[in-house]
Amino acid sequence: MGARDGAFDHGPASGEVLILHGFTDLLAPDMRVRLMACLSPEEEARRRAFAFPRDRDLFLLAHAVKRLALGRCLGVDPQDLAFARDPSGKPFLAGPFLAGSSQAGAGPGFSLSHSGTAVAVAIAGTPLVGVDVEALAREVPLEAMAMIMADAEVADLSAAGAAARPRAFAYWTLREAFAKAVGLGLSLPPNDVSFQLAGSGPAGQETPAVAHLAGHLGAAGDWHLHQCDLGPDYLLAAAVRAPCPVVWRLMPMERFLAGTTP
Ligand SMILES: CC(C)(COP(=O)(O)OP(=O)(O)OC[C@H]1O[C@@H](n2cnc3c(N)ncnc32)[C@H](O)[C@@H]1OP(=O)(O)O)[C@@H](O)C(=O)NCCC(=O)NCCS
Repeated sequence: MGARDGAFDHGPASGEVLILHGFTDLLAPDMRVRLMACLSPEEEARRRAFAFPRDRDLFLLAHAVKRLALGRCLGVDPQDLAFARDPSGKPFLAGPFLAGSSQAGAGPGFSLSHSGTAVAVAIAGTPLVGVDVEALAREVPLEAMAMIMADAEVADLSAAGAAARPRAFAYWTLREAFAKAVGLGLSLPPNDVSFQLAGSGPAGQETPAVAHLAGHLGAAGDWHLHQCDLGPDYLLAAAVRAPCPVVWRLMPMERFLAGTTP
């Protein structure tokens, strides 16, 4: 998957989704200082409130890269960005730099995810974008994962034998990404959406797809999904609603940060 560096200078074009991905081991001391300078006082307070250094690092990397990437897309200083959340907890850009749009959630949409030592930040021209990353070693019983899946997905897992666990993680990350895109989080009813995994269609599929969607969430064909490994230990999924074909532009955070001035 190619990455076009200039994409961040103008924000995502129509039909583009930018995904930055990385691990907290890139937080060398000088990088840590640089990224901490991006956080707002509220974000810094949230960061400090985590009991474990690992969680503080995940928060720092996710929120600083979110600010740097959105700031570069919008042509404003990362520190000048303001954010708010809707009642379900979905974050969105707010503030005067969105001049010309008084509508909450207008402007670039974004989503972030952290798991283990991995972080992903997605940016699109629409608020209806979500990303999820999960550590495959996470010890979640299959039965617990099945509780939030659609009946069709549970049936697929039951027939999957030894492949059940990797398929469960694939469904799980797609569901989380979709749930973030629509802003529902855990309140997304299991059977309001189900997914078709890549490679599982009758003739094989190149990408995952929405197999079934409740009418109030739009047309299944308007939803585009992406799924890939982040190294051997993590799985990433992203979802976006767009009325046109979508180009996914993935970029390691090291590369993005190397081209971004503080
Ligand atoms: C909050 C939730 C949206 C994702 O949580 P998660 O996978 O544990 O955590 P992630 O790191 O991937 O994502 C957290 C980020 O999602 C975003 N988020 C939170 N609520 C959101 C919502 N309603 N809509 C969109 N994004 C949301 C926030 O940016 C949050 O990070 P922040 O608080 O640092 O800003 C929700 O789905 C959840 O709590 N899931 C728990 C895990 C689970 O049981 N999943 C089963 C799915 S099969």
